[in-house]
This record gives sequence, structure tokens and C-alpha cells, in this order.
Amino acid sequence: MELILDSAVVDEVIEISNWGVLDGVTTNPSLIRKSGGDFEETIRKIAEICPGPISAEVTSQTSTEMIREGMDLKSRLPENVIIKIPCTSEGLSATKALSESGVRVNVTLIFSLSQALLSAKAGAAYISPFLGRLDDDGKDGLSLIEDIRTVWEKQGIEDCKILAASIRSVHHVEMSAKLGAHAATIPYKIFKQLIQHKLTVSGLEKFMSDWEAVKSEGRA
Ligand code: G3P
Repeated sequence: MELILDSAVVDEVIEISNWGVLDGVTTNPSLIRKSGGDFEETIRKIAEICPGPISAEVTSQTSTEMIREGMDLKSRLPENVIIKIPCTSEGLSATKALSESGVRVNVTLIFSLSQALLSAKAGAAYISPFLGRLDDDGKDGLSLIEDIRTVWEKQGIEDCKILAASIRSVHHVEMSAKLGAHAATIPYKIFKQLIQHKLTVSGLEKFMSDWEAVKSEGRA
């Protein structure tokens, strides 16, 4: 599974990238706002740190403008940047045009199976179902991943990756993997939790204290 950091904070990308397991990064206008950095400068810095895909989101509302903005971003930003488009009828039309021009698109704000299907049909390279926001709305985000995966298998959809997004817990990451999502975009705080286990901490403490005893006995 591709592991992606859901952040526009360059220091967070550097830290997680140093673990050696980071594939890409997703950004959106809210994350760019929160980061405090300049949009293009931030995307360029991130694109140097990890292989990608790095998602940069358009902010236009009409398909004509989204296509223009997507092509413009693609021409100016590094090769590993892909274009994020919202799941609206205008966005579908833009996804179709951009993907036919060879631009890889991540369709975002997906909350239903029908939106996922339409986005794949329009040529999306990735679709981003928002688990946490579905949970917040009283639905079960993970069951949408399961449904999309089932349909992908039954319909033989192979060129559109399921990217679990709006992740709120380690459980969301683990279950997304178990259900067959191709990728997960994970907030920094949750990424840090993925490596933690209390038995690893206590086990390591015991190994270290036993090793100190071995050394004090002159056996190492
Ligand atoms: O990648 C999508 C993500 O940024 C949305 O997450 O926590 O704002 O629902 P959240």
C-alpha cells in the first residue's frame, strides 16, 4: 500500500520521509492555509523530498477553469505532482479532459460509491474517499472503502487507485490496508502513532537494562 502524508508542513514531510517508508503527500487549500507557507513554494519543496505522487488541488469551480488551472500547475510544478480535483460534475468533466491529456488526477471529496464509479470512469488515477468525515456524518467510512473495493474487483477496474483519506486513527489505516485500499493519506499525528506500541517500549527497556548488566559483568 502506498503511504502518503496528509500535510503541507515541509518539516513534517522531512521527518516522516526520513523513516524511509513515505511514498507521497496530499495537500488541499485548508492544509496550505494551516501550514502558513506559500502554495507553490511549499509544493516544490515537498516534491524534492519524496517520490510522489504529491497532490496539488485546483481552486477553480468550472471545468474550463479547472482544466486551465490543472494544465498550468502541471506545466510549472515538478513531474511528481498530480492534480487534485473536487468530485463535482464540473470536476468530472475536467478530470476527463486532463486525464486524456496525460495529466494524472486525484479526485477528492468522495463520499459515495456512485461518486467513486463516476470518477474512475472519467479517468481518475486516484479517488479519495473521506473516511473520517463520513464517520462524523454518522455513516461508516470504512464500509465505503469495502464497497468500492468490491465493485473495483467485480468491474475489473485496475487503473484507478483507492486512496483512503480523512484518516483519523491507526485503525482507519490498518483497516484500509485490510480492505484493499491501494493507498492511504495519513495526518502527521496518526503517522507517528503507527510506529508506537507500549510492548515495544517496555521490551526495549528490558533489553537495554539486561545489556547494561552483561557489560557490568565484563562480558561485553
Ligand atoms: O486528504 C483529505 C483530508 O485532508 C481531509 O481530512 O481530517 O480534514 O477530514 P479531514
